[in-house]
Amino acid sequence: MSRAKSIYVCNECGTQSPKWAGQCPACGAWNAMTETALEASVPRGRRGSIAGASAAAQSLGSIAPENIVRLGTGVAELDRVLGGGLVPGSVVLIGGDPGIGKSTLLTQTMAEIGRSARVLYVSGEESADQIALRAQRLGVIGPNASDVAERLRLLTENRVEDVIASARAERPQVIVLDSIQTVYTDTLQSAPGSVAQVRESAAQLVRYAKSTGTALFLVGHVTKEGTLAGPRVLEHMVDAVLYFEGDTGSQFRIVRAIKNRFGAVNEIGVFVMTDAGLREVSNPSAMFLSRQGDAIPGSVVLATQEGTRPLLVEVQALVDTSHLANPRRVCVGLDGNRLAMLLAVLHRHTGVATYDQDVFVNVVGGVRVQETAADLAIIAATYSSLRNRPLGKDLVVFGEVGLAGEVRPVARGQERIREAAKLGFKRVMLPAANLPKKDDADVTLIPVRRLNEALELLA
Ligand code: TYD
Ligand code: MG
Repeated sequence: MSRAKSIYVCNECGTQSPKWAGQCPACGAWNAMTETALEASVPRGRRGSIAGASAAAQSLGSIAPENIVRLGTGVAELDRVLGGGLVPGSVVLIGGDPGIGKSTLLTQTMAEIGRSARVLYVSGEESADQIALRAQRLGVIGPNASDVAERLRLLTENRVEDVIASARAERPQVIVLDSIQTVYTDTLQSAPGSVAQVRESAAQLVRYAKSTGTALFLVGHVTKEGTLAGPRVLEHMVDAVLYFEGDTGSQFRIVRAIKNRFGAVNEIGVFVMTDAGLREVSNPSAMFLSRQGDAIPGSVVLATQEGTRPLLVEVQALVDTSHLANPRRVCVGLDGNRLAMLLAVLHRHTGVATYDQDVFVNVVGGVRVQETAADLAIIAATYSSLRNRPLGKDLVVFGEVGLAGEVRPVARGQERIREAAKLGFKRVMLPAANLPKKDDADVTLIPVRRLNEALELLA
């Protein structure tokens, strides 16, 4: 028998190495390599069977996926992000800044699921009293909800072995663990929250979830660097990774799927934080566009796409004379390199210069737009601010801009047009190749092939 092995894992980036090193070979962090038992994560005799069930091979055709019944969470926006409900045995990691509302969302969700299923809420960071206080505020417990509160079981525990023992006794269909950073397993010496502990604890819980068909929500705190619990070590172990984001200053909260084995990624669910918990927003375009007053220069509405949902957001640009040797290019909610590229295209192909101007571009409402369909809107907003000319409140813009100054088509053009029409916009500027064959929407379509053509029409 080979002797038990241990490996060294970097606390910062999770890199594994057979030997100790003062500096992590991957991320260069000093004194970050810690010893981890290699054998501990997979018990003998169970190796190779994550699902815990029989390891015998079977033909793909003999498996009937329609037998899997998704469990509705009762929160439509969360169901949408999960791809249509919870899959039994799936593990969902929910990450977010402290205080963003993760515990609130899960308490509300569990109260909804609790109407039809047994639920176990495990908290490692709050006392039972604190949780009950929140539940009371959310109306989960009280005169109207006594039967739900009965099925919603609560456990305050930090030791993973005890959590699993309780789960075996309670046999819930859904477990919430709030949070993975606060639990520890006896098999390791390191402190709760360390990479080794987070990974090992999660591995044990994932194994339990898979083998019993229990759906598991893991809450993970975002670290200072903005990555989830022990940089990325959990992301490959779980079935879905959701980020709960939003400015703490604003009421809007967005749940975004970063990874989802059972649904589309980049799907978002939108909520508003109120004094009685989170409220779902089923028509987010209307919310992000709550604009009053006259049209202002530097503002344009973009039809973007988040997962399967079209979303209208306002893109704002401010162009101002710069007194710096290197004028500033600042993006909020957009890719900064993309802005620099678009300004170069603007200059080269239309002669509009911004080299002596500071350019700031912002997506209103704290939304992040990563797709290239925002290009035309970014340029339109910048141009509008530079010329100090408003673009009109009835206009929606989308389209990718190429380095040759051409306006390129983007995916799901028709849905973007429909969303614009639905919200009462009158004109849509779009790539000519996105022009629908059959024009059924109640808007004027303005197709453009080249950037200079678009700017002439906007002027
Ligand atoms: P919480 O869910 O505890 O955040 P997390 O678990 O992500 O750390 O609560 C986040 C914030 O939400 C907290 O500062 C108080 C606020 N809040 C409300 O505004 N309304 C409510 O009904 C509740 C329960 C919380
Ligand atoms: Mg919390």
